[in-house]
Amino acid sequence: MQVVTPDNREKATLLVARFIAREIKGKPQVVLGLASGRTMEAVYRNLVEIHQKEKLDFSQCQTFNLDEYVGLPPENEHSYHFYMTKHLFSKVNIDLCHVHLLNGMAKDLKAECQSYEKLIQECGGIDLQLLGIGLNGHIGFNEPYSSLSSRTRKVALASPTIAQNKSQFGNDEEMIPKWALTMGIGTILEARCCILLATGIEKAEILAKMVDGPVKAALPASALQVHPNCIVIADEAAASQLQSKDDFKWIFENDPEWEEFRIK
Ligand code: GLP
Repeated sequence: MQVVTPDNREKATLLVARFIAREIKGKPQVVLGLASGRTMEAVYRNLVEIHQKEKLDFSQCQTFNLDEYVGLPPENEHSYHFYMTKHLFSKVNIDLCHVHLLNGMAKDLKAECQSYEKLIQECGGIDLQLLGIGLNGHIGFNEPYSSLSSRTRKVALASPTIAQNKSQFGNDEEMIPKWALTMGIGTILEARCCILLATGIEKAEILAKMVDGPVKAALPASALQVHPNCIVIADEAAASQLQSKDDFKWIFENDPEWEEFRIK
């Protein structure tokens, strides 16, 4: 696992966008795994800007989203489908036939999850998986105690997740679906590269547990420690409780690999 710690939220989110842009330029048919949540909004804003200013071409990319609420149709403003359309898909030249999201309205949710897994395989697997982290350590909607080899499936949301996400539902807990579909941890670990982005002081404690603590199902994001190519990008606030934060900072400032991503 590499940990990269730019100074602030702006630099961290721009770094992630530039990393994704480099992947797209290097492999126009790249298969991207995408995430939602407040943290990612700035990443998508930056990607849209790169598309507009540098003509970043999304036309051949394929995308698979990590998760979706059960029972919300794409036109519901709280669905992740709506979120993706609003923040990215409607603003870049992506071919909507290449956009894949779990359908939380499917009659047979099990079959929906199985065919999603199959589709990922048919597209050659995910090249780059973008991830956020929940305050309880979830990735996607893999809540604590999800099997570290779990596959795409229906899950119940944990109460801290409901509390964390309720602001997006007008602070009304009753409005938040209690179930979701999510790629499994096993599915995520098969991506060729994973990027986990954490920003803000509120993520500092859980990020330290994920990076410095043991790998355990009680903390799903810790599974990324065993991924062969995982990059954690954390701004200084989110990285503030990491045991080796000074080493990570030094490496980021001096490693030629990161030179093009260092923003003055
Ligand atoms: C949701 C998503 C996760 C995301 C998390 C973090 O629960 N299912 O994939 O990582 O939110 O969200 P935020 O960026 O808003 O903190």
